[in-house]
Amino acid sequence: MRIILLGGPGAGKGTQAKKLVDKYGIPQISTGDMLRAALKEGTALGLEAKKFMEAGKLVPDEVVIGLIEERIKLDDCKKGFMLDGFPRTVGQADALKKVLDSMSLKIDHVVSIDVANEELVARLTGRRTCKACGSGFHVLFDPPKKEGVCDKCGGELYQRADDNEETIRSRLKVYDDQTAPLIEYYKKAGLLRPIAGVGSIDEIFAKITSVLGG
Ligand code: AP5
Ligand code: MG
Repeated sequence: MRIILLGGPGAGKGTQAKKLVDKYGIPQISTGDMLRAALKEGTALGLEAKKFMEAGKLVPDEVVIGLIEERIKLDDCKKGFMLDGFPRTVGQADALKKVLDSMSLKIDHVVSIDVANEELVARLTGRRTCKACGSGFHVLFDPPKKEGVCDKCGGELYQRADDNEETIRSRLKVYDDQTAPLIEYYKKAGLLRPIAGVGSIDEIFAKITSVLGG
C-alpha cells in the first residue's frame, strides 16, 4: 500500500504515521524529519534547508524531490510506504507521479486530515518531541507521564525550532497558498480520502484505518 498523508502543519500527520507504521508495517517517509536529520548532521543539504525551515517557507522542490526519489527506491519500500509532508506543491506531486510511473507503481490513497487553523496553532505550540526516538507528545493533549521525559525510551523532550507563533503563521499561509491546491489535484485523480481531524488521536486513527480498508 502506498499512501500520502496530506494536512496542514500540526494536523497530526506524524502522530498518525507512527501508528500506521505499527499497524501496516510500511515505512514512514517524512521529508521534514529527513531535513531536520540533515541539519543536525550539518550536511550541505541541511545547511541549505535551514533558512527555509526557520522562516516557515518551503525548501525548493528540486531538493525534496531528489530526497524522495532516492528514498522510495530503497528495499524497505518494496511493500509500500507512507509519505508524510510530501508532496507539498503541484510541482512535487507531478514529479512524484513521474518517478512512480517510471517504476510502474501508483499511489493508492491520499488521506487528507482537515483541522481548523486555531486548533493547529494550539497543537504546534504545545508539541514536544523526543530527541532520542522521535516520539511526539503534547503538553496538554497528549502529555508524557513525566514532564520533559519520553514515555517510550526515557529520552529528553524538546520543542521544534519552527514551533513558535511567528513561524507557525508563516507555515499556515504557505500551506494554504501552495499545498492546499493538492486537495483538488488528488480529488480529480480519484485518490482523495478526506478525514475530519478533530477528536482524539485514537478516534482519528480509527477513521483512517477504515478508509484504508481496515
Ligand atoms: P514538517 O516536519 O513536515 O512539518 P509540518 O508539515 O509543518 O507538519 P508538522 O510535523 O508540524 O505537523 P504534523 O502534521 O506531523 O503534526 P503532529 O503529528 O506532530 O516540515 C517542516 C519544514 O520542513 C517545512 O516548514 C519546510 O520548511 C520543510 N519541508 C518539509 N517537507 C517539505 C517538502 N515536501 N517541500 C518543501 N519543504 C519541506 O502533531 C502536532 C501536535 O498535535 C503534537 O503535539 C501531537 O501530540 C498533537 N496532536 C496530534 N493529533 C492530535 C489530536 N487528534 N488531538 C490533539 N492533539 C493532537
Ligand atoms: Mg510532522
